[in-house]
Parts: sequence; C-alpha cells; structure tokens
Amino acid sequence: MKIKSAEFVVSNSDVAKCPKSRLPEYAFIGRSNVGKSSLINMLTSRKSLAKTSGKPGKTQLINHFLINKNWHLVDLPGYGYARVSKSSKKVFQKFITQYFGLREQLVTAFVLVDIRHTPQPIDLEFMQWLGENGIPFSIIFTKADKLKPNAITKHIEDYKTILLETWEDMPNHFITSSSKSIGKDDVLEYIDELNGN
Ligand code: GTP
Ligand code: MG
Repeated sequence: MKIKSAEFVVSNSDVAKCPKSRLPEYAFIGRSNVGKSSLINMLTSRKSLAKTSGKPGKTQLINHFLINKNWHLVDLPGYGYARVSKSSKKVFQKFITQYFGLREQLVTAFVLVDIRHTPQPIDLEFMQWLGENGIPFSIIFTKADKLKPNAITKHIEDYKTILLETWEDMPNHFITSSSKSIGKDDVLEYIDELNGN
C-alpha cells in the first residue's frame, strides 16, 4: 500500500470524543519507549507525524491519524511506565480499557515488543487480556537494528515457546526497525489486506 496522505485528526483521553466515523482502525500499543510513535512515522514516511522521545511516557493521549482518507491509525500511550503516579496509571488503564471496549471499528491491535528483551510478564498479560476480550492482535517486534539476525531468531523462538502455552498458534508477527525502515511493507500490506484490498 502506498501512503498518499497522513493527517493528524484528534488527541484525547475521552473515547467518546474519538472520531465518529466507521472507518477501519488500527491501534499501536506496547510498553513506554518501545517505539510506537516512531513506527507510525516509519509506516507513514512522515518524520514527525507522531511525537517521539527518548524519555518514556511521551504519548499520553489517544491520537488518531487519518491515512489515505480511508482508515485510521491510532497511537496510544505506553503501559508499564514506572514513573507515572498510581492515580494517573488508573486513569490510563480506564481509558485504554474503554478504548478497546468501545471502538467497534478497531480491526486489529498491534502489540509492540522490544526484540532485545526476553518475554516480559506485562506484555504477555496484556496479550492475554486482549485475547480474553476477543480483540484481535498481531505482535510487532521493534528495534531489530539493535540485534544480530541469530539473536533475533532466538528471541522470537523464546516468545513462541511462551505464547504457545496460551495460544494454539503463534500470533501473527512482524520484525521491524524504524531507524532502518525494516518491516514497513509487511505491516502495510497486512493492513491493506485487512482493509479488503
Ligand atoms: P511512549 O510514547 O513514551 O510510550 O514511547 P513510544 O513507544 O511511542 O516510543 P518512541 O517512538 O517515542 O521511541 C522511544 C525511543 O526509542 C526514541 O528514542 C526512539 O528514537 C527509539 N526508537 C524507536 N524505534 C527505534 C528503532 O527501530 N531502532 C532504534 N535503534 N531506536 C528506536
Ligand atoms: Mg509514543
């Protein structure tokens, strides 16, 4: 899929204020600093459509972007950022839960995980929660530029071993690097397919 246009639409923490349109929607979620906003910029070939930062906790709101005037891409705040206060964690959990509960136009969630780390309980729990709530998801491994190919293979095998304890098949997954522009076409083609093209 060629990205002809990518426009920021709205940011908010109130799911009721998200765009009313029924356009198919794809949400990017994962731990703080995993590279969600960077991935969105890579996919859309826009340097700073989504705001990125070296400091975790940059994205705090639900951000909608309209792509090719016919689907929405959503940048969500990261989970598991220890320095956010308990009360703001609760607010966050509430609006993320509402987002996934209420957005019927969500086609699939992309759960981003940093390829450098061993499977983390917080990511596994989040995938479990999506599964229990009937929300389809794929996994996007990020920062592949930071590991050698055989280490990438090994880390994906570790994920497979753990995920197959819960799921019958390994969830659909992609290997990406935003800094080296790896995996872009695979993710965009997948979205294109789900959009019925
Ligand atoms: P929050 O909004 O804080 O939850 O973070 P985020 O998941 O949106 O991460 P963001 O895209 O802001 O990136 C976090 C840091 O990781 C930045 O310093 C990025 O430059 C870096 N980063 C993101 N993707 C990659 C990648 O593919 N490779 C490398 N080497 N660094 C990356
Ligand atoms: Mg972000």
